Amino acid sequence: MASLPQSGFSSLAGKRLLLGVSAGIAAYKSALIVRLLKQAGCEVRVVMTDGAQAFITPLTLQALSGEPVRTSLLDPEAEAGMGHIELARWADAIVIAPATADLIARLVHGMADDLLTTLCLASEAPRLIAPAMNQAMWRHTATQRNVAQLAADGWQLIGPAAGDQACGDVGPGRMSEPEEIIEAIRRHFAPPPIAPQDAPHVVITAGPTREALDPVRYLSNHSSGKMGYALATEAARQGARVTLISGPVSLPTPAGVERIEVETALQMHAAALRLAPEATVFIGCAAVADYRAENAAEHKLKKSDDRDTLTLTLVKNPDIIADVAALPIEQRPFVVGFAAETQDVERYAQDKLARKGLDMIVANDVSQQGLGFGSDDNAALLLWRTPLGNEQLSAPPQPKTQLAALIFQQTLAQLSLISSGA
Ligand code: C5P
Repeated sequence: MASLPQSGFSSLAGKRLLLGVSAGIAAYKSALIVRLLKQAGCEVRVVMTDGAQAFITPLTLQALSGEPVRTSLLDPEAEAGMGHIELARWADAIVIAPATADLIARLVHGMADDLLTTLCLASEAPRLIAPAMNQAMWRHTATQRNVAQLAADGWQLIGPAAGDQACGDVGPGRMSEPEEIIEAIRRHFAPPPIAPQDAPHVVITAGPTREALDPVRYLSNHSSGKMGYALATEAARQGARVTLISGPVSLPTPAGVERIEVETALQMHAAALRLAPEATVFIGCAAVADYRAENAAEHKLKKSDDRDTLTLTLVKNPDIIADVAALPIEQRPFVVGFAAETQDVERYAQDKLARKGLDMIVANDVSQQGLGFGSDDNAALLLWRTPLGNEQLSAPPQPKTQLAALIFQQTLAQLSLISSGA
């Protein structure tokens, strides 16, 4: 089994980070965040909300950061040192970890009722935020609405992760681990690792397909498109030219990505086979319907009083990714498939890798609660071919955005091995 690839991203050395800490039990992990940032060569200044000080003392974070910790907007002595506007200008980035539901709500409304929220308003620096709260609070429509607004306002979300919570619940809302937070900050500062002239063209299928039964009904599935969109976002962020062939989803088009909208498997197949011969990488992330109605009714199917059953004849859809993988060698991109399994993940993934002629497969166990379809998190087994046999890497549960970075990184690593002839 391969080890996790080291990110080739630039160092954080010399970056000036303002770390905001609010009142969650995860505040104790802020100490490790400060330590890791200092180890990476950052200058760190910490701002704590009133509530955060009930969980960890300013003195601890002062000792670790080597700088006085700011806790109040109305502190004449601290303001005489570095005023809050100066502090807001000083930061290369603001990172809030942990961020409570309350702090998120205040940020959404542009409130400036304490030092941290005031700094967020006064600063034009990039802003990253790691929410941490009970799973019901995280799932609450108010929080979800607020988080979506924060993302729309340009905040980069880190996590949250899913799992055991301090309150005894299990679910999403745990703060991402300090190491993941550092990696997200590192990635944020990384220049696109791909030079424009070397930019690969990455074609990604995402979301479900819809197969009409009549003008108002269709066959489909629960795919949210989140994983494919996360991959498209990551590939574009890293400098690739990205075309997303998307089934119907309610996600915004990622920045810099060309989106081709399709409904049916046949439309997705046609778009994929038109684009794939010019592509460097093809990633089949869509949940394509295996079957479609043989003859979709021209008019709405009527319920009949004297008939208790309705028989539909379905015909098989083409296997899009298998057809891309079967292109002649000079037209064939590097092909990455996905496999959602409910048991024997590795065996089925190995089989699919071989049967569909893929170069790499990302398999996940969709029977695990809180992971896979529709959720923000995923765990996966990555399997790829090498001349000496298949290799694999197991990625633990993590946000789909993070998993997308890992998958794309591994894809680029395999691609460079192939093009160097290794
Ligand atoms: O066979 P299964 O549906 O499990 O395979 C999943 C993989 O195959 C995914 O990468 C999916 O996008 C792709 N696929 C496809 N066309 C189909 C069915 C699946 O490209 N008709």
